[in-house]
Amino acid sequence: MADLGFFLKNVLVVSLAMNLGLIWKISHDGEKTLTSKWKWGDMLHFHGCCFNDQKNNRVEEEELLVSKRTEEILETTSSPAAAPEDWESVVINLDHGDPTMYENFWKQKGDQETTVVTSSWQHISYFSDVKNVCWFLEPGLVSAIARLHKVVGNAVTEGRHIVVGTGSSQLYQAALYALSPPNGSGPMNVVSAAPFYSSYPLMTDYLKSGLHKWAGDAYEFNKQEPYIELVTSPNNPDGFTRQDVVKGDKGILIHDLAYYWPQYTPILVPADYDIMLFTASKSTGHAGSRIGWAIVKDREIAKKMTTFIEINTIGVSKDSQIRAAKILQAVSDSCGQENQKGAETFFDYSYKLMAERWKKIREAVNKTELFSLPSFPPETCSFSGRTFGQLPAFAWLKCEGEVDDCESFLRRHKILTRGGKHFGAEHEICEDQHVESRERV
Ligand SMILES: Cc1ncc(COP(=O)(O)O)c(C=O)c1O
Repeated sequence: MADLGFFLKNVLVVSLAMNLGLIWKISHDGEKTLTSKWKWGDMLHFHGCCFNDQKNNRVEEEELLVSKRTEEILETTSSPAAAPEDWESVVINLDHGDPTMYENFWKQKGDQETTVVTSSWQHISYFSDVKNVCWFLEPGLVSAIARLHKVVGNAVTEGRHIVVGTGSSQLYQAALYALSPPNGSGPMNVVSAAPFYSSYPLMTDYLKSGLHKWAGDAYEFNKQEPYIELVTSPNNPDGFTRQDVVKGDKGILIHDLAYYWPQYTPILVPADYDIMLFTASKSTGHAGSRIGWAIVKDREIAKKMTTFIEINTIGVSKDSQIRAAKILQAVSDSCGQENQKGAETFFDYSYKLMAERWKKIREAVNKTELFSLPSFPPETCSFSGRTFGQLPAFAWLKCEGEVDDCESFLRRHKILTRGGKHFGAEHEICEDQHVESRERV
């Protein structure tokens, strides 16, 4: 569909949901004063970072300036009260997300419900449950995970093995290790349909392993060789639900379901795949606890993933596991009969927050002809009964019209974002069936 004129190199992702509120104000201020009226409380984090490999001097200078100013702001400000007076100099960083958006919900919770107190003599041993395939997995976390998936109806856990990781990032690497044959004729190909989560290529090739290598966009993969395909659903960065796209018979799938929770997407069925990755970072927003879990059908794969983590970090912090268990139990409690006071459930709170932010960003984008956002068909969530379209934790923003480098355009207005090239969407033109079908998945 050439008339779409949709160059994916112009597409960029604007970080995580807590930042979406910022975009709303863009349309009100007009292009020339994009950054002049932000409220300090809206600005969540600032980093200096560079994006472009081929930069002209002007852009380079501009980046240095932005980066320097960002560092200054970081040094001088630790709280809203310490906001700089010079608003024109403010840099808005939407490049990196940090899921602090649910903090207010957790602040309202009573100590008894969610606070964990640990004495110095507790959690000393390396071991948690030597009878379990994953011997460092805390039994309390197993029950909390199984219960929450049952309550939400988003994944099957019965008869499955659970492996805990230091974030789902560690489990991703553990899964690659477990699925790549140690004596293969070459490194295993690892693919994911573009646009894909920008950390996959980095994590896959970081150690230049002989076991596996990043092989790029799954749509382009046509080798008659074994491969691992990552299916991220809902997808980071574009928010669409997905299925595997390589239809070869030599593939193994890893399903990254970090966002398969009812504040981001209607839950349709309990997911039941061979390897599913979840994380506290996105489900409850506790990214700092660094707890992820894999639900694995095959015992041998679960064992190999456990071995990876054993060699890598000799297990996963018990303190974090126990804290995560307490929080997951509190979420389940808030959804069930234990919630006698009828307090707002975590998923009600987070759904409303996401819906509100998406309303704002869509209103802002609709007021200008400069940008567009994906639209998601509504479906009915089996958990909440609500009918809605995806509410991703990030926005995949397309620059329309004359602007052909959206990232640089926003950067010139001191808004730092991450362009399509980081997600494998640099040079492609969204004009053929192949790309259209991605959007329909
Ligand atoms: C799709 C996806 N998977 C995994 C992760 C990493 O999660 P964790 O914090 O558990 O390592 C992220 C974080 O942004 C993500 O977007």
